[in-house]
Amino acid sequence: MEKSFCYFNGQIMPLAEARLPIDDISILRGYGVFDFLRTVNKKPFHLKDHYERLVNSARVLDLELPIDLENLKKVLKELIEKNDYQNAGIRMVLTGGQLVNGINFSKPNFFILTEEWKPLSDELFHQGAKLITCDYCRVLPEAKNTNYLLAVKKQKEKNEQQALEILYLDQVNILEASTSNFFAIINNELITPKENILFGVTRKIIIQLAKDILSVRENCLPFEEIKNASECFITATNKDIVPIVKINEQIIGTGVPGFTTKLLMEKYKKYIENYKG
Ligand SMILES: Cc1ncc(COP(=O)(O)O)c(C=O)c1O
Repeated sequence: MEKSFCYFNGQIMPLAEARLPIDDISILRGYGVFDFLRTVNKKPFHLKDHYERLVNSARVLDLELPIDLENLKKVLKELIEKNDYQNAGIRMVLTGGQLVNGINFSKPNFFILTEEWKPLSDELFHQGAKLITCDYCRVLPEAKNTNYLLAVKKQKEKNEQQALEILYLDQVNILEASTSNFFAIINNELITPKENILFGVTRKIIIQLAKDILSVRENCLPFEEIKNASECFITATNKDIVPIVKINEQIIGTGVPGFTTKLLMEKYKKYIENYKG
């Protein structure tokens, strides 16, 4: 812990010395946004995409990010060198800021934390994972806002049911999972929802890679259609591609990771290995 450095409002400092005012509106009202990326070969993976999404998330909450991309690159280079993880997860957080007169806030706090990044267990990639469903749409879903209340609350239930993620539905359609995007292959076509979701950076890369293999459609995906899916998977920065073999009690396809999912996993692995930054 003593060796861990963070970036806090313009300065790199030991994590233990960073102090957020307890009347920051992110604490009192949950008003804040963030983004999470990882390093590949010690370089931030798809930094521009994550930066642009963070700027957009901030805009949705009428906040302004107090750093440009060039300066962010310099800060991250220094942080990565100082913390020296083999692979790092990087969490950039923008809060609404400290309250003035009890209601107004005008000066956001911006900090960056890093942590050791480790992939999920091999077992999940080889055997596939289970999802459980829940009717829920994230508030201001295009923004990666700090509201993960339901995801955190349902953690116990998720573990009891041995599920990796919660799949959010708007009662009819699949939206996204609590920390990932969702894909299904139906009639040899790859379909992924496109409304009321967070536009994942991994999702964007997978859509591009998949176009070499099969037809891809960003579209409404009624949950009812899942019985016709031959394969399903989820994508996220901290998960890569995880095959989904069960949703609630419904088995997907043959109950094991499908051919196309495995092909995409292989393609994505190569894409990461060849990533130069
Ligand atoms: C709600 C939600 N959807 C999707 C994703 C996947 O986004 P990305 O691929 O950029 O990690 C995340 C990532 O944490 C998320 O929290």
